[in-house]
Amino acid sequence: MASYSSSQKNFPHFLSFFLILIISCEGAPTDGFTEVTLTEKDFDVQRPYDVPIAERYSFENGVRKLWVYSDDKPFNTETKTAPRTEIRMRNHDYSSGIWQFEGYGSVPNGTTNVSIMQVFSASSGPALMLRVYNDGELWCFQGKLIEDDIYNRWFQLNVIHNVHNNKITIFIDGVSKYALDDNNGGDYYFKFGVYTQNHSSYYMESRWKDVKIFNKTEV
Ligand SMILES: *[C@@H]1O[C@H](CO)[C@@H](O)[C@H](O)[C@H]1NC(C)=O
Ligand SMILES: *[C@@H]1O[C@H](CO)[C@@H](O)[C@H](O)[C@H]1NC(C)=O
Ligand SMILES: *[C@@H]1O[C@H](CO)[C@@H](O)[C@H](O)[C@H]1NC(C)=O
Ligand SMILES: *[C@@H]1O[C@H](CO)[C@@H](O)[C@H](O)[C@H]1NC(C)=O
Repeated sequence: MASYSSSQKNFPHFLSFFLILIISCEGAPTDGFTEVTLTEKDFDVQRPYDVPIAERYSFENGVRKLWVYSDDKPFNTETKTAPRTEIRMRNHDYSSGIWQFEGYGSVPNGTTNVSIMQVFSASSGPALMLRVYNDGELWCFQGKLIEDDIYNRWFQLNVIHNVHNNKITIFIDGVSKYALDDNNGGDYYFKFGVYTQNHSSYYMESRWKDVKIFNKTEV
């Protein structure tokens, strides 16, 4: 009886092995891309100018935690932009080719009306903002719902920017969710963290691990 029920249990495992194999054959967003070697110098933390970095950012056990308050100061004294603690990826700005951001993000319940990831152009502004609204919904700017429940879990985010085709494609947990046109121009870079939007929560936080950049030439 005991051996009968154990073989019954093993059969689905055997099947799921092939199921995983089939799913993997569809490919990861990074297939065909080359990983860019990053160093800590490439992770430039922007935070309210009047507080020490340790009061808005930590990097422990591979997890980057960024937080900000809605009454914080901007990230420098010249700008009047809303409060942010964001990592601006440095040294790999791009104006051609196909570039990809990959990272695992997590947003705690309560953090809302905030941008957590951007593709930004110095000359034409944000080409993509991924924002948290409502009860843990992830939106592309304010116009397109991407994922309805991102609170309190790790989600895998991949963003592919094909500068040649002017397309930005967003993947959550390896699944393509939405593609939008870019804003046509300039030197782009990736940013992630928390950047206050209208009617934000008082406290905003996002955490990130295994952040990587990939690229390839257009075909
Ligand atoms: C977030 O917290 C609120 C208030 O405590 C609760 O109603 C809601 O169900 C929580 N949502 C998630 C996704 O945990
Ligand atoms: C935020 O509010 C300002 C002023 O009302 C408005 O101009 C702007 O478009 C709003 N931003 C978003 C992202 O809704
Ligand atoms: C977020 O903004 C929306 C309008 O864009 C507003 O209805 C909502 O109340 C805001 N959330 C919070 C927590 O203030
Ligand atoms: C990929 O990134 C590296 C590092 O920034 C750069 O040297 C290289 O030219 C890039 N390749 C493409 C195809 O964009």
